[in-house]
This record gives sequence, structure tokens and C-alpha cells, in this order.
Amino acid sequence: MHRIQGNNPARWILGFLIYYVCEIANILLGQRPCAAVIPRTRQAMTMQTSIKEILASYNDKAPLSEAFTIPAPWYVDPRIAELESKTVFSKSWQMVGRAEHVEKSGQFVTATIAGEPIVVVRGNDSVLRGFYNVCRHHAAAVVTEPCGQASILHCPYHGWNYGLDGSLKGMPEFDGVKNFDRQQNGLVPVKADIWEKFVFVNLDPEAASLTDFLGGLVKRVAPLGVSRLHYFESRSYDIHCNWKVFVDNYLDGGYHIPHLHKGLNSVLDYKQYTIENEDRYCLQSSPMVSSEQDAATGATRKGDRAWYFWQYPNLMINCYEGYMDTNLVLPIDQDHCRVIFDFHFGDISESHREYDQQSVAVGARVQDEDLGICEGVQRGLKSRAYGAGRLSARREAGEHLFHRLLAADLKSGLQSSGAAAD
Ligand code: FES
Ligand SMILES: [Fe+2]
Repeated sequence: MHRIQGNNPARWILGFLIYYVCEIANILLGQRPCAAVIPRTRQAMTMQTSIKEILASYNDKAPLSEAFTIPAPWYVDPRIAELESKTVFSKSWQMVGRAEHVEKSGQFVTATIAGEPIVVVRGNDSVLRGFYNVCRHHAAAVVTEPCGQASILHCPYHGWNYGLDGSLKGMPEFDGVKNFDRQQNGLVPVKADIWEKFVFVNLDPEAASLTDFLGGLVKRVAPLGVSRLHYFESRSYDIHCNWKVFVDNYLDGGYHIPHLHKGLNSVLDYKQYTIENEDRYCLQSSPMVSSEQDAATGATRKGDRAWYFWQYPNLMINCYEGYMDTNLVLPIDQDHCRVIFDFHFGDISESHREYDQQSVAVGARVQDEDLGICEGVQRGLKSRAYGAGRLSARREAGEHLFHRLLAADLKSGLQSSGAAAD
């Protein structure tokens, strides 16, 4: 009778020994990263896995040539989204509006950052100030318009009034209330500042200045003269993907352009596309070529070079000659984000209107091409078949910078929150 070989215990033990010796040899010879940095699959990472373990599954020390992407759970786990809100978005400078909206006394813009309602207002003394847009009485939003101008900030709920400097000026029907100090009940301040055409806010009272945060970006953008451009219109996209999927897609060094954006590809010298990382920004840039392959793109994307700036964590600034669009990526939850495009042109006069509209349409087409991919990636990140991916050393240095900055913020945020064991 034929004996089944697999039932022989000695062969089993020998097989295991050979397997483990080979594994150890692979690690020692550098053929394979050690087990601690191999991103685990979705099957292995569950809600029972702690955030600390999920964060530890990304090796932010690996050089680009050996680096993995951040692991799939970082894109789909609500606990990571919450940690990002508390750390990344509560501690970085966030763009909340355009400087032209807060030029004059009483002009204001409102926004929500990390779930916090914010108002930025220009005072009568010309000082720009930011506040939590939360009434000190019963927490209603004091300013309810996205932007506008007011001489006083009037809460619509019970009529409390605040000055443009945030001080509490008056409370109807509050006589007889004891131990209430009006001086101590002004709007709570947040840091606010302006760079180029943009208003920024930082919720962290200990944050470094906006200029320090932007670092080398300030010098690189200055020669492009973006402040001379004029706002034309905005487009907003609600996308069924994690905000980082959109950022990754932006930072792949043009890797997807020949495959996904044929029109855009026709005006870029793809082989000469460069990627530069510094501080918290990445500049992707490409010489431009004139092409009639795609008439609308050729007519509206001009100049010597295309400039694509990304500032950590969620702001992109794209420039061509006489053209800028900004992309602000706002997380909604772990599965959704909103991306707001603001288009600016050198000439927004009536005679130039048709051209500007055509230019916006070209941008919208590129965005539509990206949308389907980003949503498909989000589905793929939930697959049990995927754990993490490798990065192209030629193209994906920007993503590598993004992932390392993010990892540093999340790891230090987790440590300082003392929630390491959860
Ligand atoms: S909540 Fe603002 S006045 Fe009452
Ligand atoms: Fe794209």
C-alpha cells in the first residue's frame, strides 16, 4: 500500500527547519525586510489591533528604495481618522479662506477645522484675529455666513454681542447674574495669519509661526507672483475616499499622468518631470511642450514649466503661466473627503471669460479622471488582498515625504495623548 509522505513526522520537522533557516537567511542577507516592518494584511489587522500596533506597522526609517506605503488600515480605520483630527489637523496651519475676504475692518471668513467652528475677522485696528466661532453663552455659532462684513459679531441665538477683537460687549437680560466676569467671556482666540492670497489658522496655541511652518515653500512660490492673479470660481468635489488617497494620487510624481490624463500628458515633458522634497512641502515640476493633440489643454496650459506644490498635510497649489488653482483636501470621515478647487487667472475681464471657463473645464476633466481612480483605490484598500504597496524610487518621493511626516505626527500625537495602549 502506498504511504502518504506528508504523514511522516520527521519530514514535517525537517520541512519546518528548512523553511525557518531560509527565512532567517533572507532577512540577514537583506533580501526581505524583517517581520516587524512587513505591513500585515487586512485579515491580520482588525479592530482588535491597537492603534499603537497599526502605527508600528509602518517603518518611517526605510529609505525610498526600500519603503512601503503607509498600511491600508491607516486609510480605513476610524481611530486613525480621529487621531489625525487631534494631531495633524489640530496642530498644522490650515488654509481657511482667501485674503481678499478679510482686507477691510469687519470682514470675516468662517471655516471648520478638525470639527472646530472658526471665524477669522479683521479688527477696527486692522489686526487680523482668529476665534473659535462658539458663543460663550450656550455654544451657538456666532457668525453663520461663510464670509461677509460686520461691525459687531452678533450671536443669533440670544443676542450676545462680541467686538471684532472678540471681547464680549453685551448680553441682553443678564442683570442679576452673579459672579460673571464679562472680561473672561470673550470669544476664545486661535492663531491666524496670511500668506500670499491665503488665510490660515492654527488651533495649536504652541504652534510655530505660519512662515516657519511653510518653510522653503515661501521662497519657491514668491517668484511665481500668484498674488497678482484674480479669483475666478470654485469647484467642490465630495469623494468616496480617505483624504490621504487624494493626496497620494497628487504626489505620485506624475506616475499616473500618461495612463490617466492623456490631455495633460500632451503638454508636459514627462521624462523631465522633477520631484523635490523640502521641509513640509514637495514641488513637482515639468517643462512644458506645445501640443495640438488636445486643443483645450494646449490652449489653456501654457508657459515654460508646470509647477505643482504640495504643502503638508492637505494643500496643493498648481501654477501655469497666468493660472493658479488651489486644492484643499478636507477629511470628512475615514471613507470620505471634500476637495475644494479655487481657480485664479491673470485676466478675469468679461472679454477673457470664455477662455477662463474653458480653462476651468480642462481642470475639471482632469479631476473627473482622478475621481474614479481614487474611489477604486479606497475600495481596494479595504480588500483582504492588500496590506501596503511599494513606491517607485523615480516617481514617488513626494508620497514618501507625506507618509513620513504623517507617521511622525501620529506617533508623537499618540504618545502625548497617553492612549498608546488603546
Ligand atoms: S448661545 Fe449665543 S447668545 Fe445664547
Ligand atoms: Fe491626476
